[in-house]
Amino acid sequence: MTKITVIGAGNVGATTVQRIAELQLGDIVMTDVVDGLPQGKALDLMQAAPVMGYDIDILGTTDYADIADSDVVVITAGIARKPGMSRDDLLSINSKITTEVCGNIAEYAPHAIVITVTNPLDIMTYVTLKTTGFEHNRVFGMSGVLDSSRFATFIAMELGCSIRDVDAMVLGGHGDSMVPVPEYTTIYGIPMSQLMPKETVERLVQRTINGGAEIVEYLKTGSAFYAPSASVAKMVEAVVKDSKRILPCAAYLQGEYNESDVYLGVPVKLGKNGIENIIELELTDGQLRALSNSAAGVREEIAKLQQ
Ligand code: NAI
Ligand code: 2OP
Repeated sequence: MTKITVIGAGNVGATTVQRIAELQLGDIVMTDVVDGLPQGKALDLMQAAPVMGYDIDILGTTDYADIADSDVVVITAGIARKPGMSRDDLLSINSKITTEVCGNIAEYAPHAIVITVTNPLDIMTYVTLKTTGFEHNRVFGMSGVLDSSRFATFIAMELGCSIRDVDAMVLGGHGDSMVPVPEYTTIYGIPMSQLMPKETVERLVQRTINGGAEIVEYLKTGSAFYAPSASVAKMVEAVVKDSKRILPCAAYLQGEYNESDVYLGVPVKLGKNGIENIIELELTDGQLRALSNSAAGVREEIAKLQQ
């Protein structure tokens, strides 16, 4: 049986466990630093199994020995963004947490594929790579699936059309410099620019960039977790089922898109080996500049950590 560990039993972590259980992707271990939290939520989720019909084990624990030999590890441990706080405000505290978590992953689950969710996402994924020492194909971050899903949602809401016909693409860092790409965003194959004026495209692009903050403004004490956990589950499923999905993920670049030694959201092929291929899109000069600006922002934050 595939073993999937989710580190952090908060909003994103516990909801991810629920989704992975309902998809029956494998046995699940959920850990947290707060004793009782993962145990209680795991037991609650186990008690939902007879109703929902999933037949897998869910273990809640604070003991890292229980994550031994996990095939996939998802990192959601950390502090979530509060109103007025940027993702980058989270940098210092979450990098300490991620470093501690990754030491344990390297010790107990040295062959795992690791999906980072903790913010600031692109930087924490870099910390994950460097701290675990794993190959870069098995360390990547969840950002583009969520950001593209938000873009698709806003387009369907605007057009009053079925969400099933919208394919949206968002590249770049998971932050204010993300790069929604209208040219690669279609409604049943029709470029979005043919179905709405330029000003509407730009408004939906801006709403997507502000998508996480819009939820924070409503919730006040935390950030989004339903769409984030759905996005993580989609990525875990692609790995566990080796389904070779083409999804935008935060991937380690080594020359692709003219960037190196940095994580950035780009389309990849996801399978049992993690990132099996990075897809290089043809981009306009403007889009390449936006991507390069996004990479510069990520590098700046990484440099702050190295000071
Ligand atoms: P939350 O506060 O509900 O849960 C975080 C959990 O991490 C808490 O239960 C806390 O006890 C635990 N934790 C803290 N330190 C730990 C440690 N050293 N070891 C193990 N567990 C530890 O927060 P939420 O909403 O679940 O968000 C988690 C993270 O995911 C945040 O950094 C948030 O910004 C990020 N996030 C990223 C998204 C993305 O698109 N990449 C989307 C949504 C959230
Ligand atoms: C989001 O985009 C906070 O990164 C999180 O909702």
